[in-house]
Order: sequence, then structure tokens, then C-alpha cells
Amino acid sequence: MLPNKVKIIEVGVRDGLQNESKVVPIDVKIKLIELLADSGLSVIEATSFVSPKWVPQLSDHKNIIESINSNQYLSSLNKEMNYPVLTPNMKGFDNAISAGVKEVAIFAAASEAFSKSNINCSIDESIERFIPILEKAKDLGIPVRGYVSCVLGCPFQGEVKVSQVVQVSKKLKDIGCYEISLGDTIGVGTPSKTTQLISALKNEIDVSHLAVHFHDTYGQALANILASMQSGISNIDASVSGLGGCPYAKGASGNVATEDLVYMLDGMGIETGINLDKLIKAGDYISQYLGRVNGSKVALAKLNSAC
Ligand code: HMG
Ligand code: MG
Repeated sequence: MLPNKVKIIEVGVRDGLQNESKVVPIDVKIKLIELLADSGLSVIEATSFVSPKWVPQLSDHKNIIESINSNQYLSSLNKEMNYPVLTPNMKGFDNAISAGVKEVAIFAAASEAFSKSNINCSIDESIERFIPILEKAKDLGIPVRGYVSCVLGCPFQGEVKVSQVVQVSKKLKDIGCYEISLGDTIGVGTPSKTTQLISALKNEIDVSHLAVHFHDTYGQALANILASMQSGISNIDASVSGLGGCPYAKGASGNVATEDLVYMLDGMGIETGINLDKLIKAGDYISQYLGRVNGSKVALAKLNSAC
């Protein structure tokens, strides 16, 4: 049974741009956020409050949030908008809250090697680090989303056990994350493995609290999303024009292109609230700025047929 409606979490501005070596100016990032909001997206992951030494591209995090909060166009949208940010530790959380952030995401991994490479600690240490963040967030009324990376494979250790993904996801849920986003960080998953994973997770976590986050490195993302929806998932991460990757997962390409996802959902009669033509405008804007061929097949087809 497929969902009637899907919530799309746009991660291009964070997951996409974090992978760009050339620093993108803040006015370009804000223009992109405006175009994405104009397309109907209401959840736009804006940045990460991580160490600028680890991810220099996102060192403007404070200014990004302040610019969003004082932006007249974004404030004039007559709908509830959400601009979550990533916070790896208490320092990031405190900085995010001081800047005016209203929702955060913590990020763990199902692979020890990836956890060490990405956040410089073991999985258990990361959970210990997250507990006080969740406690403080609860006191402040800040919702916290939890990511689990490497749910279908790890760039360092290869296979990742389903039981390990279930264990880490359950821990994040138990400490208070309202939603767990399952990251196929290097895009190696296939539909049958996706179905198997979600089926195991559903024994522990209500499917309405799960989301999927498919990088499209092996071209499997849309197929995996379809398998996820058939398993009951209705929260899906995507990146406009397929921007990005992970700086700590060599060779990983961007998330499924939001345009391709919206085209598929529109064609299946599943509601997203997003205007595809406006979304294509946003993807075209950032692709042109980066001097990059648009990573969305749908955008390329539509833009080419328009000339
Ligand atoms: P560390 O070096 O172990 O941190 O890094 P530390 O606590 O030892 O501190 C070292 C220095 O960093 C200190 O500064 C701290 O103040 C500073 P110094 O004294 O040397 O001047 N520092 C900070 N500065 C600003 N903001 C902070 C912060 N924390 C410490 N929050 C740390 C540990 C977690 C900070 C580091 O590993 C880090 O920033 N990692 C982030 C990596 C990252 O952003 N990865 C990409 C996002 S995850 C992803 O893409 C996957 C996902 O998309 C899902 C999927 O696809 O699977 C979510
Ligand atoms: Mg990612």
C-alpha cells in the first residue's frame, strides 16, 4: 500500500553544498533557499553547526540562520517553514540555538569506521554525546531528528548488519529523536535489501517515525524509494539537482534529485505540495552557479525540451 502524501526533506543546501570545495557565497545559498521555498518545499535543511575546520563550506552557519530569520520573502510565505540544521555535539547545538535555530538533527552511523571518520568518535561515544543534547532540546522544546549513516553499506567496512542498524536507530529513537533518517551514504543499497531493512526496523520503530536518505551513487535511489514507500515510508530526503555527497565518504555522489523524486510522485498521484517547474528553476539556478550539468534527469529533459 503506497502513501497518499509524502513529506520531502530538502537536503541540497546542506548535504549538497557541504561537498563543494569552492566556497559558495551566502547570497547564493539564500537565493537557493528562497527558490526552494517558492517551489512549495517546507522543510529545507539549511546548514550544519559543525567544526569549520572539518567542513569549511558551512562555516557561515550562523549568518545563514540569521539571514533566513530576517528574510522578508521567506517570512511572507503563508505556511509553516522548517529549516533544520545538523549539530554533532553540544557546542554545535548551543551555537545553533543562539543563532535562532528551531530544529536540529544529530548524526550517528551504523558503522564504527564511518563514525570515527565522520565525527571522530565511536558509535557508543556519539550516543553518549547526544544524550545531553536531547535533554537540553527537550527542555527548550526543540525537535531533534536523528540520522543513521551507512545503513546499507560502509565505504570502509563494506557490509553493515541489519541488526546493527536496528540497534543504533532504536537508541536514537529511545533518547528522544522524533524521526530517524536512514542514510544509504554511498548509495549501494538495492530494493530487496531496503525492504528487508525496513521490515526489521518496523519491529522496533513505528514506520511513521522513519525516513529514507538515499545517495544515488549506483543509480538505485528511486527504486529504493519505491521499495521504501511500499514498506510504509512517507518521509523522504532529497537534494535539488542531485547536489552533493559526503566529504567523509569518498566517491559518494549526491542524494536522489528532488526533481526526479517529485516527477515520480506526481506521476503516481502521490501528493507533495511541490511545483515541479519552480523546483527545476531552483536546481537550474544552483547548477548554473556551480557551472555543473544538472544532476536531475527530469530537469535536463524539461529544460532541453523547452529550448
Ligand atoms: P573533533 O576534532 O574531535 O572535536 O571533531 P573536538 O571536540 O576535539 O574540538 C576540536 C576543535 O573543533 C576545537 O577548536 C573545538 O572548539 C572545535 P580548537 O580548540 O581546535 O580551536 N569544535 C567546533 N567548532 C564549531 N562547531 C562545533 C565544534 N565542535 C568542536 N560544533 C566534530 C569532532 C564532531 C566537531 C567534527 O568531527 C565535525 O565537525 N564533524 C562533522 C563532519 C560532517 O559534517 N560530516 C558531514 C555531515 S554527516 C553526512 O553528511 C551524512 C548524512 O547526510 C546522512 C548520510 O548520507 O548517511 C547526515
Ligand atoms: Mg547524506
